[in-house]
Amino acid sequence: MAETIENSNEAPNPGRRRFLTAATSVVGAAIAGATVVAMVESMEPTAAEEAAASTTVNLAPIEPGMQVTVPWQKKPAIIVNRTPAMLATLAEAEQKKLLKDPDCSVPQQPPYCRNRYRARKPEWLVMVRICTHLCCIPHYRPKPASVAPWWLGGFYCPCHGSMYDLSGRVIKGSPAPHNMAVPEYDFSADGKVVTITDMYAKAHLC
Ligand code: FES
Repeated sequence: MAETIENSNEAPNPGRRRFLTAATSVVGAAIAGATVVAMVESMEPTAAEEAAASTTVNLAPIEPGMQVTVPWQKKPAIIVNRTPAMLATLAEAEQKKLLKDPDCSVPQQPPYCRNRYRARKPEWLVMVRICTHLCCIPHYRPKPASVAPWWLGGFYCPCHGSMYDLSGRVIKGSPAPHNMAVPEYDFSADGKVVTITDMYAKAHLC
């Protein structure tokens, strides 16, 4: 399975985004050249597509502070192993009133993730890595002051400057309207792997 692992800041790279837009364009072009029969057939999921509907990730290689991004249902899903220091920034962002929707009142996450951590377990963030503005892929920028002097760590979208905290909650002044989407997921009984299953039905990607 293709994936990326990173534990530090990456240089803004506007050429790296529009994951969904590009994918949609490719799909649209393919459909335009097909017959109606082919369209119907193409809508029936193959075994491979059905298998890809859920993604299981081994958490062992993801060290504290690191993230892994995996393809899931043709979208990038990110898993971050947050340290206690990183978790502490979430309360700080609330206290400083940096966030548009600190209480996650917009259902961008399943009910069991409606908390400060937007997670089943505080240390593990599982989220769709897509900016809710226009679908770019935000960069993981966990280091304080790496984006702005007041920056506590989070995600930065280079396309139009949206910023999110380390729970994917959007910061005031960003063009993005909502917190990033959290999918449906669960851990194995021993807690060593996570399986991402479905999009939360009420969530909007962008
Ligand atoms: S797509 Fe992220 S800020 Fe516009």
